[in-house]
Amino acid sequence: MRVQVAIVGGGPSGQLLGRLLQQAGIDAVILERQSGDYVLGRIRAGVLEQVCIDLMDEAGVGERMHREGLIHGGFDMLFNGERHRIDMEQLTGGKHVMVYGQTELTRDLMDARRAAGLTTIYQAGNVTVHDFDTAKPRVRYEKDGQTHEIECDFIAGCDGFHGICRASIPRRAIHEYEKTYPFGWLGVLSETPPVHEELIYANSPRGFALCSQRSHSRSRYYLQVPLTDKVEDWSDETFWQELRLRLDPDAREKLVTGPSIEKSIAPLRSFVTEPMHFGRMFLAGDAAHIVPPTGAKGLNLAATDVKYLSGALIEFYQDRSEAAIGHYSERCLRRIWRAERFSWWFTSLMHRFPENGEIGQKFQEAELDYLVNSRAASTSLAENYVGLPL
Ligand code: APR
Ligand code: PHB
Repeated sequence: MRVQVAIVGGGPSGQLLGRLLQQAGIDAVILERQSGDYVLGRIRAGVLEQVCIDLMDEAGVGERMHREGLIHGGFDMLFNGERHRIDMEQLTGGKHVMVYGQTELTRDLMDARRAAGLTTIYQAGNVTVHDFDTAKPRVRYEKDGQTHEIECDFIAGCDGFHGICRASIPRRAIHEYEKTYPFGWLGVLSETPPVHEELIYANSPRGFALCSQRSHSRSRYYLQVPLTDKVEDWSDETFWQELRLRLDPDAREKLVTGPSIEKSIAPLRSFVTEPMHFGRMFLAGDAAHIVPPTGAKGLNLAATDVKYLSGALIEFYQDRSEAAIGHYSERCLRRIWRAERFSWWFTSLMHRFPENGEIGQKFQEAELDYLVNSRAASTSLAENYVGLPL
């Protein structure tokens, strides 16, 4: 098989890239290690910045998102037992975010791809990338006991943090920056109405908690837990009990509990690869960078990488110009580092770090007090949350 672009990974990055290239008449194949159902079974944050909303519209797949997505003009910060609303709309001159599950966004893109009759090879085994330092890269994979080879002009590494694209780049050619955090997030999805119409980020003496949602009838909650905890250690009952203890009296009263439909623990990490390309292979999304989930920047960063990458590839084919592909990494990294800084800061502010001692906690309390009582500090939080300009 020969295509212009071989996309490795069929998560949100790979699907969105495939769609934007298709609209420009560029021929691409997507190779995904898992099945489509498996990809849709992964529950991740779903808070879309305007840039991501616009991109879904540009891709012509925004219809259901606008129908079902929930516009949020603010969120609550809970500390010292009290809630303080960050009015994003007011602080940023009318900007907001949209709550729409990442699963749903991925499903919309997959459906559009299927309807257009384009190829996605699911359950592609042992995918390997070759000759991407030449003008004729190749990708090999196994399917139904046979080895196949694809020739292409470019490889797009959209294969997530554990993918093979970044791992295939010679070590000397890239630099990786990494920070891990000494706790994880235990998440529960439940078919219950959200405790509040907006999100609540809680800094409690018992650890961080987040009250999020997927719709008016489906909630997503998280608790900071030690990395040594296992999902089996947490029954639904112990989860709800602990969540209640981390909330304010009003939320505690209003919380509606029910059986979990998904429960998982995710570690937190800050990670960036520089540069985001090697020869004719370009990395996008989680393959190149990870943020801790506080502030929900992961999907939004993936979307902007894809916006820049699709634009650069379109320029290459339409104008025969390599200028934009040459600037791809630099363009993405400026936005990535700003979101990395914000996610690290928001994580540091909201979680318990016993290793920082009593004084660390006092610094947090003072910063939270400043944050909600200074318009300048609230504006900084709000403008980062809605997404910094491109
Ligand atoms: N061959 C083929 N596919 C692979 C391989 C491989 N060797 N390794 C991984 N994949 C697939 C995974 O199965 C997954 O479906 O690549 C896909 C990568 O998807 P994601 O991990 O969702 O990454 P991305 O599409 O960049 O999406 C970024 O995900 O983690 C969140 O917060 C993050 O919202 C952001 C989004
Ligand atoms: C989520 O709904 O999963 C979510 C929302 C906001 C975050 C992180 C996760 O900051």
